[in-house]
Amino acid sequence: MDKYAVFGHPIKHSKSPMIHQAFARQYGELISYEAILAPLDGFKESIDAFFAAGGKGANVTLPFKEEAFSLADKLTERAKLAGAVNTLKRIDAGLLLGDNTDGAGLVADLLRQGAQLENAKILLLGAGGAARGCIFPLIQAGVSSIEIANRTQSKAQTLAQAFSQYGDVIGCGLDNISNADFSIVINSTSSSVSGDTPNIDPVHIQACVLAYDMFYSDQQTSFLDWVATYNSSAKLLDGLGMLIGQAAEAYYVWRDKHPDVTQVIHEFKQGSI
Ligand code: ATR
Repeated sequence: MDKYAVFGHPIKHSKSPMIHQAFARQYGELISYEAILAPLDGFKESIDAFFAAGGKGANVTLPFKEEAFSLADKLTERAKLAGAVNTLKRIDAGLLLGDNTDGAGLVADLLRQGAQLENAKILLLGAGGAARGCIFPLIQAGVSSIEIANRTQSKAQTLAQAFSQYGDVIGCGLDNISNADFSIVINSTSSSVSGDTPNIDPVHIQACVLAYDMFYSDQQTSFLDWVATYNSSAKLLDGLGMLIGQAAEAYYVWRDKHPDVTQVIHEFKQGSI
């Protein structure tokens, strides 16, 4: 049986094993997929042991995505641009290929939900790893501009600079966002984890047709609640589709098959995952 695993710290609450098993069921395939708690100072050793024992592929989650980037023998273009790796695959001669499927998962989810990405004007809140991973995939999907707004303005500007050769990408602080006609607003900050909302003027979300929070939970997130207060017509989406979408991209990287994401989202919402 082909062996896969997700590595993180903590890892107990990871949904990845159940999501990948749901994908495998769609094809009548039997796979092994474990959640492995890697010690904070022992990620490389855990990965080496897993692949030495015949592992075919691994997902990597917090806090190891940058370490996975450093230890991969080869990197895909999108992983290089993201500066982080969430998917490792054993390739020829025991080498490890590092990929990043997070941004592709976001873009696939947006398109699946009917978002108009071509020529979209994006406001991206946050400038951490989650923001970085989605910028190039959004540019590739044809958006016309991305304004990155972050609590720490300098981080937004540095990030924007890194991508300005690929498209119209600028960075600013939360209090000096340039305009009010964004068509899509994406929250990549971790603020919803603690029930907070990035402190921006609601004028910047009043014209958007879609608001996306990369965070998800059983209830509507604090960010989407806040958007709904000022914009009653915007479509509101949380990060569940991105979570399952990035997993589907990883499944494709490993097994060359595109699972039905909609079906797995449905199973997830029914509580069978
Ligand atoms: P991730 O890998 O999930 O992106 P990260 O790299 O730690 O995590 O980045 C977290 C992001 O959320 C940062 O952009 C952070 O802003 P700062 O760079 O100013 O720290 C942002 N963030 C976290 N809590 C926030 C809050 N309450 N309001 C606004 N931004 C917040």
